Amino acid sequence: MSRDSELKDRAQKVFPNGIYGHLSTRYMPENYPQFFTSAKGVRMTAVDGREYIDYMCAFGLNLFGYGDEEINKAFVDQMQKADTVTGVSPVMIDFAERFTGLVKHADWAIFVKNGTDATTLGAMIARAHTGRDKIIIAEGAYHGIAPWSAQSPEGTTAGERTGRIYCTYNDVESLERAVAEAGDDLAAIFATPFKHDVFIDQAEPDAVYARRARELCDKTGALLVIDDVRAGFKLARDCSWATVGVQPDLSAWGKCIANGHPVSALLGSDKVRKTAGLMRVTGSYWCQAGPMAAGVVTLDRIRDSDYLENIQKLGRQLRTGVDAVAAKAGVGLRQTGPVTMPMFLFDDDPDLRKGYFFCAEMAERGIYMHPFHNMFISNALTAADVDLTVAAADEALQALAKAGAGLEPNQRIKVA
Ligand SMILES: Cc1ncc(COP(=O)(O)O)c(C=O)c1O
Repeated sequence: MSRDSELKDRAQKVFPNGIYGHLSTRYMPENYPQFFTSAKGVRMTAVDGREYIDYMCAFGLNLFGYGDEEINKAFVDQMQKADTVTGVSPVMIDFAERFTGLVKHADWAIFVKNGTDATTLGAMIARAHTGRDKIIIAEGAYHGIAPWSAQSPEGTTAGERTGRIYCTYNDVESLERAVAEAGDDLAAIFATPFKHDVFIDQAEPDAVYARRARELCDKTGALLVIDDVRAGFKLARDCSWATVGVQPDLSAWGKCIANGHPVSALLGSDKVRKTAGLMRVTGSYWCQAGPMAAGVVTLDRIRDSDYLENIQKLGRQLRTGVDAVAAKAGVGLRQTGPVTMPMFLFDDDPDLRKGYFFCAEMAERGIYMHPFHNMFISNALTAADVDLTVAAADEALQALAKAGAGLEPNQRIKVA
């Protein structure tokens, strides 16, 4: 038995159904390892010794690569001085100043642990600020697992679910319909920076839709909240809707803001300062200083380096390279979304059997990709790594073309 299988068996006993959540390989191709012992830059080493170039970046955390020495040194140094104590380290102010300095709409910050904390706080503050209940979110958009927006109904009450009204992302008419449905009870419109749902093609934000969301909030007194937890700093050195000329009232951040160290944030404008200041917002670890020290170095690098241009360049190289080898193999592969957060889906692939086959072939060649979630380009990736990836994709796509209609139905996942 492999070490990975052995650990999976042990996990099955001590967790309710084995490894849970988005890091579980339950829904990945069968040859995907679950357990890793080390990671550096864009490379992760599995317990059985195989190395992978990782296009998931722990689902968007490691913008500057795993084990970045400067960022980790700041974290370790701060941990040695003071981490979570009965009070607050000055670095918390440095971090908030850096953040509000970078993000135009932001005049203040509240630091939390997870992206879910940040989006949930955004929803609560919007409701407290307006004294209203309804929150508009786009169908299929993920804002975390808290009951106000959870995608699966288990464990939520009817009231928590009826507080939301759904619209279709990028569809102005459906947004207007949702606003009309909310009547005088609209607290907020939530939006992700672009449509980055699982299983379907990604879509860039339509500037007309974004501007209309802003206008409708201004007209009704509701707040506009951008959920930048996943896409933050991968499209802009500002809140992501700056790319379409729209500034929100609140924005939620997480994942890469301290290069994977555990801190997330809700940022807000002065308009909402009073309400936010009067709310009871707290968490045992929310003022943890170590991740904030890592965050200061990360935000400085975001501000001062050419990381954004670099990941865009690498993303374009990947897109062009993979397009070329897909065309050569005669395989219909759609690459959607911004080049820094690519999604690969195959034509005529309702149960994703082609996507799973492709990813399994890529994993055999040491490339870790995802069959139905967007991926992430790390600044630690190099042009040579992309060349290796495209060469692997060339072989994987040839293998896919050869397998053709003979592929078995996909048993790993049920796609609606
Ligand atoms: C857009 C978006 N919002 C919120 C969250 C929740 O963040 P977390 O998993 O840190 O709670 C995620 C996580 O993937 C996300 O992608």
